[in-house]
Amino acid sequence: MNPTVTAASGLILPEADLPATFQWGVATSSYQIEGAIAEDGRTPSIWDTFCRRPGAVHAGDNGDIACDHYHRMPEDVALIKSLGVDTYRFSVAWPRVQPHGRGPANPAGLAFYDRLVDELLAAEIEPWVTLYHWDLPQELEDAGGWPHRDTAYRFADYAMMVFDRLADRVPTFTTLNEPWCSAWLGYFVGVHAPGRTDHDDAIRAVHHLLLGHGLATQRMRAAGGDHRFGITLNTGTADPLTDAPEDAEAARRADGMGLRIYLDPLRHGAYPADMVAELAERGAAFPVRDGDLSIISTPFDVLGVNFYFGQDFSGTDADGRTTDDEGHPVVRGVPPGTARTAMDWPITPERLTRLLVRLHRDYPGLPIVITENGAAFDDAPDEDGFIRDDDRTEYLATHLEAVAEARRQGTDVRGYFAWSLMDNFEWAEGYAKRFGIVHVDYETQKRTLKQSGMWFRDTIRRVRGA
Ligand code: NOJ
Repeated sequence: MNPTVTAASGLILPEADLPATFQWGVATSSYQIEGAIAEDGRTPSIWDTFCRRPGAVHAGDNGDIACDHYHRMPEDVALIKSLGVDTYRFSVAWPRVQPHGRGPANPAGLAFYDRLVDELLAAEIEPWVTLYHWDLPQELEDAGGWPHRDTAYRFADYAMMVFDRLADRVPTFTTLNEPWCSAWLGYFVGVHAPGRTDHDDAIRAVHHLLLGHGLATQRMRAAGGDHRFGITLNTGTADPLTDAPEDAEAARRADGMGLRIYLDPLRHGAYPADMVAELAERGAAFPVRDGDLSIISTPFDVLGVNFYFGQDFSGTDADGRTTDDEGHPVVRGVPPGTARTAMDWPITPERLTRLLVRLHRDYPGLPIVITENGAAFDDAPDEDGFIRDDDRTEYLATHLEAVAEARRQGTDVRGYFAWSLMDNFEWAEGYAKRFGIVHVDYETQKRTLKQSGMWFRDTIRRVRGA
């Protein structure tokens, strides 16, 4: 079913497709919006350090000020309220709360999230906490980072600190956001902090991230209360470009490294055999100790899916290479001619439906919330400052429709959070890429609702029949 176009607010979804109980939200993360990196006892994270490495981040940008959310939090909560969402998904900055990555909590750091939660509740917005969205305290990286087993235990301690303080008001805790990015981009490809390029370190990081998730989940659950615990993965689809066997093989490997090495241990208590064998061929292995996999497969309540695009994979490229510069099985057009966002990511909403159906089939019994979906486009305010982002509006509409279609096909998708509430620090792309449904003028810190934000607000109202 195609979304209907109206002149007033862009694309409007058919009303009946999503139930009134569907959970609507917007999402951000600490380093991408907070700024105030040296205030109230916060110490540097790996991203503060990485941003200072020449050439690491576009235009030498960093999160020193970002959206200045640390100082503008009440105004930002009012903005969230104006969107009519149920939920705000934000992350807690570990170096604010526990500056040395171990040892005592920093009261001033915890107090900020305390105020944020209270402000949200006063605005009748449900807080959804992500415990780790990539800002590892630098001191823990200096001690070995995620490739080092102890970091998993440090993470569980920190998680409990946050849980103890906020659990009386926060119903949902996500342990990790996109561990693939932390491990693969951070420790092997090196385009994310801490910018290391060691394949074995990345494999060790995968295991210790998952272990940290399991340990934290067990401890938070044991503390009692009625909470939902989850993990958020970046999920795409990996399709073979053609019927050729080597393309099928490339897609299998991409799916293995991108999705199955996370979800198989989390849900089935074992790393996928084909990936273990492939690593063994390289002389690598997950550093599993007795009991780890039962910790990692501790039951959890909600799978967060971050979806941006799906890709096609092929066995070799035109130059005969079998992996690209990032070590992935070679990718070619998706399919050739597909429209792309400003990130050069293909726009593939139908693959979101397919992904959700597949997750429901291969990892059953797990409610899903889309914890991120959105797109960067080169927004241009008109003379009156209005941002008519038809491209982003259409992206959101078609992906929401893809979610509705997945629900019609029987998947248990319970919510959808737009990425992002506002333009922010897009990691290695700095401020050049804008994902917000609210525009941020970084000179003045003025926030302006984009057309896509108006559309999102109107869509929620309409689905609710309000
Ligand atoms: C996923 C990450 O969680 C988020 O931090 C990032 O900004 C978006 N993808 C867009 O790249």
